Amino acid sequence: MGFAPLLFASLMSLAGVCSGGSDAPRGVAVGFVFDLKAKCEPPCEHAGVCIRNNTCFCSRGYEGETCQYANCYPKCKNGGVCLRPGKCRCPPGFGGRYCHKVMCDGGCWNGGECTAVNGVAKCICPSSWAGSKCQEAICPQGCRNGGLCVAPGICSCVEGWLGGACHTAVCSQPCLHGGKCISPNKCRCRPPFSGPRCEERKKSH
Ligand SMILES: *[C@@H]1O[C@H](CO)[C@@H](O)[C@H](O)[C@H]1NC(C)=O
Repeated sequence: MGFAPLLFASLMSLAGVCSGGSDAPRGVAVGFVFDLKAKCEPPCEHAGVCIRNNTCFCSRGYEGETCQYANCYPKCKNGGVCLRPGKCRCPPGFGGRYCHKVMCDGGCWNGGECTAVNGVAKCICPSSWAGSKCQEAICPQGCRNGGLCVAPGICSCVEGWLGGACHTAVCSQPCLHGGKCISPNKCRCRPPFSGPRCEERKKSH
């Protein structure tokens, strides 16, 4: 409450100089006309002073007809709202003093870059990673038979399968007589062979 009357007094003395008339000495800053009986309705906000009817002189950091708006310099970016002088409230996905920083919740992993895309913060992932945080590796070859892609191009296979895409079945005993291992420990035999390892020859008539 002490600040406003003080500013008021200094404005009055300034008004006294300037209302002296048009013969005011050159070089003296010409201020605004100040009316002691001025009324401002609605009243000036944020310690603004009513200097003429419905004209507010705003204190530093505020502007607008009734000094209702705080101003922020630099201006709040990315849709941020100026709450009080120099203090921006940032929309989700943005931060920093002026909402100038893009913020991806939880960060971006594996070399991903947090970037604003149409006003929304997003991780832009390197080509071998995907997901909202670039947390999922991409295996272009695919991981088959229950395998998991654990790093770019690397599948972790379940037991019984091998190969870059977990596409090769493992038969702990080899398939005999040209038989083919088609799933873990399962041989597909060439006729006339049969049996778990294609070890038997079918009897022919
Ligand atoms: C300011 O307004 C009051 C009434 O609200 C009026 O009496 C006065 O003359 C006005 N002053 C000026 C300079 O217009």
